Amino acid sequence: MEDKATILIVDDELGPRESLNMVLKSFYNICMADSGVKALEMIKGEDIDLAILDLKMPGLQGIDTLREIKKERPEIEVIILTGYGTLKTAVDGIRYGASDYLMKPFNVVEIIAVIRKILEKKRFYNEFKTFLKELGSRSGIDLPHAKRQVNWDHSLFEMIKEAMIRPSDRTEDDGSHNYIEFVKVLANTLENKDPYTHGHSSRVNYFSNLIAQKISLCAEERDYLQIGTYLHDIGKVGIDNKIILKDGKFNEQELEIARRHPEIGVELVKSMGISHQIISVIRHHHEFFDGTGHPDGLKGEEIPLLARIVSIADSFDAMTTDRPYRKAFSIEEAILELRRCAGTQFDPILVESFIEIINEKNESIQRQIQQTVSKVGVG
Ligand SMILES: [Fe+2]
Repeated sequence: MEDKATILIVDDELGPRESLNMVLKSFYNICMADSGVKALEMIKGEDIDLAILDLKMPGLQGIDTLREIKKERPEIEVIILTGYGTLKTAVDGIRYGASDYLMKPFNVVEIIAVIRKILEKKRFYNEFKTFLKELGSRSGIDLPHAKRQVNWDHSLFEMIKEAMIRPSDRTEDDGSHNYIEFVKVLANTLENKDPYTHGHSSRVNYFSNLIAQKISLCAEERDYLQIGTYLHDIGKVGIDNKIILKDGKFNEQELEIARRHPEIGVELVKSMGISHQIISVIRHHHEFFDGTGHPDGLKGEEIPLLARIVSIADSFDAMTTDRPYRKAFSIEEAILELRRCAGTQFDPILVESFIEIINEKNESIQRQIQQTVSKVGVG
């Protein structure tokens, strides 16, 4: 059996406090506080996983208690309890970092389900954070991201769950499916840093697959491409958030740092023992066809094919999504831009294949961009 989580019940009224205690004490360690001030004292001394907080209390109000808890101990999950007619306050609570809210009088089945869901999410989050730290220490790279509190959105949580708990995924001799799920999670976590790149890897994956289909890439290469698209920017976890989240164009020095992400990415994944085809995507997706790209200044077909594909898909996605400093290009404008850079930045033959397929599938591409971009801002 796993260790019991500790729950803090904060309510000024004895009745609800005790009844929650009765319901929960056989599953969890319970602490209780009858005011916001006492709750704040308790979180300093006890190892609390989750707090259930009444919003309407004399003295320090629930919402203020919530804000203080989140300031002091952001890792504590908070569920707020609210009476009839105060839905707006509950919504405010979510804005200030509460994980969920429950209406009073509470329903026992519902409250247990909500607590389980939240604690499960927290456990996956911790596992995932440990994974990132481990990755950082194995590769000797400091990962600022691993120390940061991640805003989880539901889909991300579902993906982590899928990647981590399906029993077949736990076997030693891998299913590549598991691996793909896991790299998706990594990519999504990374993209959560920046609303402008939300969904970027899945779109790069989608566009790359279109090119792969068009040029009849073999199944094995397509598998590598699949993973490569999700991992291509993984090195950004090693770059300071200040640069990743910058609202505007980089200055010279920042550009220099940002340009290191392919190399950092390779350092990171080397320790995972993954194939050189995938590594080549990570390292070379910013090479230019005319040899003026980075990090190695490779030219033409010296640039591995998969990296040349991802480079086009990556840039096409950047062009067709909004950036802090400019609006998205239309597909037609993006096609013109691809053509303009064919032969200098991009492989001209692959550009033509991609444009052909864009013209064939314009509608579904439009949909793909809309669907993933409209999720921006969830977390
Ligand atoms: Fe990149």
